[in-house]
Amino acid sequence: MKVSKPSDNLEFSTKVASDRDIEGDRLRLERLIGSTVSDAQIDIGADAIAGLKNTPKTLSPHYFYDDRGSELFEQICELPEYYPTRTEATILRQCAPEIAQLTGPCEIVELGSGSSTKTRILLDAYQELAHPLRYLPIDVSGGILESSAQQLLLDYPSLNVHGLVSTYEVALTSLGSSPLPSRMICFLGSTLGNLNPQECDIFFSEIIDALQVGEYFLLGIDLHKSKEILEPAYNDAQGVTAAFNLNMLHHLNWRFDGNFDPQQFEHRAFYNQEQRRIEMHLQSRRSQTVRLRTLDLTVEFEKDETILTEISRKFELPQMADYLQRKGLHPVKSWTDPNQWFGMMLTQLRQD
Ligand code: AVI
Repeated sequence: MKVSKPSDNLEFSTKVASDRDIEGDRLRLERLIGSTVSDAQIDIGADAIAGLKNTPKTLSPHYFYDDRGSELFEQICELPEYYPTRTEATILRQCAPEIAQLTGPCEIVELGSGSSTKTRILLDAYQELAHPLRYLPIDVSGGILESSAQQLLLDYPSLNVHGLVSTYEVALTSLGSSPLPSRMICFLGSTLGNLNPQECDIFFSEIIDALQVGEYFLLGIDLHKSKEILEPAYNDAQGVTAAFNLNMLHHLNWRFDGNFDPQQFEHRAFYNQEQRRIEMHLQSRRSQTVRLRTLDLTVEFEKDETILTEISRKFELPQMADYLQRKGLHPVKSWTDPNQWFGMMLTQLRQD
């Protein structure tokens, strides 16, 4: 499952491979978060309560990702209007050999690994240079983590996989040191854009704490561009993004015994030029009252009132390079596509 900004320690997927760790010859899967309701899940309910009591109302994008939401996200990545996934893959195909040269042998850690599709491009490049292959995928969905790891092991006979079923923040504090000469943490797909500036700062502190001096961080970011390109990417003609957004209400109903009627809400997505971010909202078609029973929460909506469900920030490469440099991540090299729609940046943790 493609997910997950770092945050609350909660398993959001309802699909898990097994409740146990897996220990094999070339595969180790460790579960750092449980599959049962925990205190952290109760905290997540608190985050929904706070968001729905806010003016304007907000909900965490975490709530997109139940099994159906994860499937819809995979479909979004294939849409003709949704350029980020294929543009990033094209850039990666071009720059992966250089990345493998620059880093030398290293353990590849991927945050929100999902189906690990783009990782194959990196693995191919490291394999080409006869570097040892060691991959550490991190995802909150045990199901997808296990199935994609098994497939990778079949396709790369010299690969070792150590998967962590975990949120980023928990995993990043549990990495230990790399068994290879270096390590590269990858954060692809511009998931960084789903974090607000404050969350970004926290995220980078966690990254820096997880790296040793000399190790690498690889970042894929969606770049600022005209709204004629951006807005259709979040308002596709087939309505998949609308279904993805509205699915959040089904998920809330399931998770908190709620009675949202998704037909009474509409998908809205637009580019906020000033803040350089796509905003996705759910807009109430009429005045209505919704109840989430397990949270003991009643929410009143006025006609046309919205819930902000996601921000997707768009960046500039030079500004991002400055920001990362200030954090201690020295930009080694960046790449972009001919349209400059998407950027890939390799950085290295350096001593101050
Ligand atoms: C996961 N994330 C980078 C996607 C994005 O583009 O911000 C989520 C998404 N929301 C709607 N479409 C895709």
